[in-house]
Amino acid sequence: MDVLHLSKIKLKKITALGLAFFLISAAPAFPDDFLVSPPPKSMDKYYAEPGTPSEWVTQMQTLSTAFSSVFVNMEKKRWDQAEKKAALFLKSYEKASQMVPEWEKEFDLKSAAELKESIEAKDIEKIGALSEALGKTCSHCHLKNNSSVWIRYHWPSTDTIKVLDPLEDKEVSYPAYMKKLSDSLQRISVNFEQNDFQQAWQTLEIFKKRLTSLKSVCSKCHVSEWTKSSVSVKDFFVGEDILYSLQKIKKDFATGEPSEKIFRKNIDYINNRSCKMCHLVHQPPAFIQRAWKQKK
Ligand code: HEC
Ligand code: HEC
Ligand code: HEC
Repeated sequence: MDVLHLSKIKLKKITALGLAFFLISAAPAFPDDFLVSPPPKSMDKYYAEPGTPSEWVTQMQTLSTAFSSVFVNMEKKRWDQAEKKAALFLKSYEKASQMVPEWEKEFDLKSAAELKESIEAKDIEKIGALSEALGKTCSHCHLKNNSSVWIRYHWPSTDTIKVLDPLEDKEVSYPAYMKKLSDSLQRISVNFEQNDFQQAWQTLEIFKKRLTSLKSVCSKCHVSEWTKSSVSVKDFFVGEDILYSLQKIKKDFATGEPSEKIFRKNIDYINNRSCKMCHLVHQPPAFIQRAWKQKK
């Protein structure tokens, strides 16, 4: 993932040059002690200003480009350039190692220094071994920490979100709103199974209002809409297809003899396409954040 663009280079040409070692090592295993723990506190300052690029990410991009450039230049036999890029890589890798004290041990500064030296010496074998060792430091840290960093800094917390309940006309927390939404969906089925179609119709209207109200929540996190596309995030999970399913249930109710099959089919559609799919995307980070908060 970190040097994907390198794969565009013709492999044949570079096997002698050590880059191949690096690419082979690109499918590493997760550490045995893989745990989604909160990232170190000292990361906070690099993500202090939402909307501006994180200093950490910028540093990663700098060292990553330098690292790739070393091998691209070697492939072209531009040893001078390769050496310069190795020096740049060393500098930026060192800087990154000082940014988060808790992660200092994840960096192999010795190999980074030796990489520069072995390029000076044009020692292909050593370059290969070093690039592999260095590449492992990247993926080891990424596998261990990226999920945590993303959950902490890239996923806004649902805690700050209040949702206006259209029925009680008051703002409630996100999880509390979910409970109401879930409750009103369940009531449709309960009433239907008791053949109380009038009540079922009424609860369906309540559910529809609550689901429609949920649309206003998306933009609290999805601040930049997909301007280049006519599709909106709101076409998912709370889109026209969901409302259409509700419409089909209502139409069937209106016949006076609603069919179990039509009812189930459309309720299942809503359960899967709205609730379940949205949960698959949004619940894991929300739950992990909640667990971290609880531990404190
Ligand atoms: C000590 C941990 C650590 C080490 C070592 C490390 N990285 Fe990273 N890197 C991260 C974390 C954490 C992120 C995720 C940052 C984010 O998305 O906010 C990241 C993200 C990146 C990114 C994506 C930047 C973007 O535009 O989103 C690249 C590219 C990258 N690292 C390259 C490298 C390379 C190449 C190496 C090794 C030479 C390396 N990293 C070593 C922790 C590390
Ligand atoms: C608490 C914050 C939050 C809320 C509220 C939220 N989302 Fe998301 N959603 C995210 C994040 C973060 C991602 C990951 C990708 C990203 O940043 O866009 C995501 C991803 C998605 C994706 C995957 C594709 C994409 O755009 O990245 C869809 C579709 C989506 N959300 C739809 C919705 C809809 C529809 C709503 C409202 C009913 C909603 N989201 C509410 C935070 C949120
Ligand atoms: C915008 C995406 C989204 C949609 C659509 C959505 N949910 Fe949720 N739901 C969430 C998120 C995120 C959480 C976790 C909130 C938190 O813990 O802060 C959640 C939590 C819940 C919970 C609480 C789970 C628990 O154990 O605490 C229930 C119940 C629930 N949703 C039911 C539903 C039902 C029923 C529907 C469909 C009618 C639905 N949700 C539609 C995003 C969504």
